[in-house]
Amino acid sequence: MQPTPFSLEGKVALITGGGGGIGRQTALSVAKAGAHVVLADISDNLESVAEEVRALGRNARAMRVDVSENPQIYEAVAAAQAEFGRIDILVNNAAMHLVERFSEGSPENWDKCLRINLLGQIVFCHAVMGGMIERRSGKIVNVASDAGRVGSLGQAVYGASKGGLIAFTRNLAVELARYHINVNCVSPGLVNTEMWNSTRRDNPKLAHAYENTVLWKRLGEPEEIAAAILFLVSQEAEYITGQTLSVNGGVFIA
Ligand SMILES: NC(=O)c1ccc[n+]([C@@H]2O[C@H](COP(=O)([O-])OP(=O)(O)OC[C@H]3O[C@@H](n4cnc5c(N)ncnc54)[C@H](O)[C@@H]3O)[C@@H](O)[C@H]2O)c1
Repeated sequence: MQPTPFSLEGKVALITGGGGGIGRQTALSVAKAGAHVVLADISDNLESVAEEVRALGRNARAMRVDVSENPQIYEAVAAAQAEFGRIDILVNNAAMHLVERFSEGSPENWDKCLRINLLGQIVFCHAVMGGMIERRSGKIVNVASDAGRVGSLGQAVYGASKGGLIAFTRNLAVELARYHINVNCVSPGLVNTEMWNSTRRDNPKLAHAYENTVLWKRLGEPEEIAAAILFLVSQEAEYITGQTLSVNGGVFIA
């Protein structure tokens, strides 16, 4: 009998930023595919997402982790490995949005954005990769953003954090290839989550201008980003590494 496509039966997936939006949906998608889930986030919603995963018949653990605090990352990964035995899949998804003109920005905001969006993801990769190297297998997906691939108004530092993540992914994939660890990025465009909806509330004109560039003429849904992540962490994507997959409804830039 052929195995079910995208089956993650018995795998253990750690998802950062799993308290809402794309992270929550990814947790549900990998759980439906058979994975047990560890959620790491600062969100108060985390335990309710863990409950949703358990309702699908998988084990789930919610861990309060601030990804800008390195010791918390190493502690959480050690605790997850102790409880579940290993981490097969890391989805580095937690991030903050920073929309401001660079000329009006502050070093405090830049520091926070780079710590959460770039260093936090780098440290999570470092914390999980030892176990993956020992087992000579693993899948890492870093959630970047098209702001890291193209220029857009108000996103200079946020875009730098995501562009840095794309470069990090490409380079880490080279180092980890000998251990059969796939490292890829999913790069969303504009997605119907609290992150984009708060940008819409705070900067309606800017948000409208961005949305006008989407060929599909609508926002993406978290399910559509999670589907790309599910593919990249599955056995079906075994021969894909070091890549960045944009999921953006097509974008027109004049
Ligand atoms: N929504 C979009 O339009 C869009 C576009 C491009 C890329 N992205 C990326 O997709 C990913 C998910 O974003 P989303 O749209 O689901 O946003 P979201 O705001 O719904 O979710 C982000 C999650 O990250 C968590 N988080 C924030 N700071 C954290 C910290 N210091 N430590 C731990 N957790 C923290 C939040 O609590 C939240 O649960 C992010 O990497 C984001 O940059 C989103």
